[in-house]
Amino acid sequence: MPEILETDICVIGAGSGGLSVAAAAAGFGVPVVLIEKGKMGGDCLNYGCVPSKALIAAARRAADFATSAEFGVSAGKPTIDFARVRVARREQIDVAEVVAGAVRLALAHPDRPEGVSVSCVAKEGEFIVEGDDDLLHRAVFNLLLNALQASPEGSEVQLEVTAARPDQLDFGPTFAEGGVAISVLDAGPGILPSIRDRLFDPFFTTKQGGSGLGLAVVHRAIDAHRGLVFLDSGSAGTRFTVVLPRLSHLVRRLPVGSLSPATVLT
Ligand SMILES: Cc1cc2nc3c(=O)[nH]c(=O)nc-3n(C[C@H](O)[C@H](O)[C@H](O)COP(=O)(O)OP(=O)(O)OC[C@H]3O[C@@H](n4cnc5c(N)ncnc54)[C@H](O)[C@@H]3O)c2cc1C
Ligand SMILES: Nc1ncnc2c1ncn2[C@@H]1O[C@H](COP(=O)(O)OP(=O)(O)OP(=O)(O)O)[C@@H](O)[C@H]1O
Ligand SMILES: [Mg+2]
Repeated sequence: MPEILETDICVIGAGSGGLSVAAAAAGFGVPVVLIEKGKMGGDCLNYGCVPSKALIAAARRAADFATSAEFGVSAGKPTIDFARVRVARREQIDVAEVVAGAVRLALAHPDRPEGVSVSCVAKEGEFIVEGDDDLLHRAVFNLLLNALQASPEGSEVQLEVTAARPDQLDFGPTFAEGGVAISVLDAGPGILPSIRDRLFDPFFTTKQGGSGLGLAVVHRAIDAHRGLVFLDSGSAGTRFTVVLPRLSHLVRRLPVGSLSPATVLT
């Protein structure tokens, strides 16, 4: 039987409007429930004010660099790291949800060769990490797209999300809670050893019309999440594996009995 919440105010939508009303009411000690169906922060935090201002701030810094020579300061040509500009949010992310979104998008991509399918093994609610889901989505999508582009007709790209135990990851305290491994395997021609050192360099590409930014974005995005990227490639295909630090002690949803004056339900 559902439990009934006793509350004075129920705010639906945690955009800048809903958040400020809920915070103000809670500040007066009024019991408030805030319900959000999408991302906390609404347009302002996720797509609008904050991301656009972050880009504008980055562009201003780049312009300062580019025009500093006239003041006798030579700072060189600025490089742009789009991935870093976006790491503004840190939230709990269900990796299975991110992966499912990336698979949906990749399946609809025109570069998917005839009959190439994607199999996806990822248990919902099991693998939680902290970070920016947009950024992780872009990383997984770029790996999937590369795998599809390399795949022979009728083959299968296999995507798998698994746990990596702390003892399998000898990489210090970052992985104290273990890791979440996202691996993307294709049956393509593999990657020649002679180009492996340059794969993650921005603008490195062997594809006609490729921009060479896909893996650079993957690297920056995973680095920003304190994760690692591994490559395993041979004539039978290529496997990219991303390992992210796992979060294990999580409260996904507050039990109703513990509702405080301002409670957020997502
Ligand atoms: C590119 C861009 C740049 C911007 N820059 C600025 C700026 O610099 N300064 C400025 O002041 N404004 C700016 N804005 C405008 C600003 O983002 C919006 O005015 C503001 O986000 C509106 O807030 P809101 O809470 O009314 O709505 P929203 O932010 O749209 O929030 C509504 C929330 O309600 C949720 N919701 C909807 N229906 C339900 C439901 N049935 N159940 C549960 N949840 C639900 C949605 O998921 C969403 O999170 C910008 C907008 C854009 C797009
Ligand atoms: N799964 C894969 N199989 C074979 N080669 C790959 C694979 N993934 C990446 N590569 C190689 O790495 C290069 C760089 O990949 P990256 O994603 O950075 O750029 P791109 O795919 O060429 O262009 P784009 O910017 O459109 O992604 C590719 O051009 C290709 O040579
Ligand atoms: Mg690519």
